[in-house]
Amino acid sequence: MSRAERKIDHIHYALSTGQSRRTGLEHIQFVHQSLPGSSVTNISLSTEIGGLQWSSPIFVNAMTGGGGEATARINTQLAEVAAACEIPMAVGSQMSALRHPEERATFEAARKANPDGIMMANIGSEATVKEAQAVCEMIDADFLQIHLNVVQELAMPEGDRDFRGAVDRIAAICEKVDIPVVVKETGFGISSETAQLLSSLPLAAIDTAGFGGTNFAAVENERATRPLAFFNNWGIPTAVSIVETASGAPEHTVIASGGLQYADDVVKSLALGASAAGLSGFLLNVLLTDGQEALVEHIEQMKADMKMMMCALGARSISHLHSVPLIVSGETGQWLQARGLKPERFARRTPVPFDS
Ligand code: FNR
Repeated sequence: MSRAERKIDHIHYALSTGQSRRTGLEHIQFVHQSLPGSSVTNISLSTEIGGLQWSSPIFVNAMTGGGGEATARINTQLAEVAAACEIPMAVGSQMSALRHPEERATFEAARKANPDGIMMANIGSEATVKEAQAVCEMIDADFLQIHLNVVQELAMPEGDRDFRGAVDRIAAICEKVDIPVVVKETGFGISSETAQLLSSLPLAAIDTAGFGGTNFAAVENERATRPLAFFNNWGIPTAVSIVETASGAPEHTVIASGGLQYADDVVKSLALGASAAGLSGFLLNVLLTDGQEALVEHIEQMKADMKMMMCALGARSISHLHSVPLIVSGETGQWLQARGLKPERFARRTPVPFDS
């Protein structure tokens, strides 16, 4: 099977396997405030990542390109939606365009459709500095995402089997690429040990891409003649991974992703310590099922709903959300307890007054 055919397969199976929604966010509860002292009109959703101001923490996370015309069309549509909603967007892994230059247009389509928006290039941690520079240049990127996908590669019969040297390659890329770099997982979550290995690198952010959303072990297992079923339930749930990442790399900005669909998923992720939230599979599903207008509507609705929730919580900004009290229960609480990450500290936080 060619790389281009595989890209189409990924879209097909990502949609059919769906999102388990076992993100751990179901174990997070806000503590209601009856006197929040807030007003919806004074709430700001803006956030700063890598020195750039984003008007909202929501963004379209990496998905596609490299699968011919069908993937060019999806990137065009996603980029048009990102432009309409003024949110950043990442394209999928551009390695295919380096190996097969005829696929460049499938990524360039995104930049063409959204010439002024924040656009992220994407490549795996196997990339060289030259390859990283080439993918940034290809779409005139504002950010570079470097993805980690060990489990997906192992689950793929034709996948990589040698993962040595990744941290050194990421460090070399950070040194030579002149735009902010984000390291992301691809649905299995970042642990505090992984975050610690990344903590000394000059990264703009670490993106959790936790378990509970699109599951690339399940996707590859659908394609494989000998499925590795033990990977289907492998991974760190998104809620846990946000806390693990912040604990391993406390100086770094955390981006939440993995299974996020609605405003409450995003607000809970931000309250756990993230500064932005990426959505992939769910947005693709809305786009391909209901179309571009429906996707714009969904994103605008999410933004409006986030403001409603923040108003009820008395949080004027994303940084205010970082100090609202939360109850962390169930398996998420048990996991954090077992890892010494003190879930009870979230319950005892003091909210920042709305007007300060
Ligand atoms: C992805 N994802 C992804 N990530 C990446 O860094 N490079 C890539 O090329 C791709 N390709 C890709 C294709 C498709 C069809 C999907 C749905 C996803 C992973 C994605 O960015 C994200 O980390 C995970 O999908 C988890 O988030 P969701 O889908 O649960 O919101």
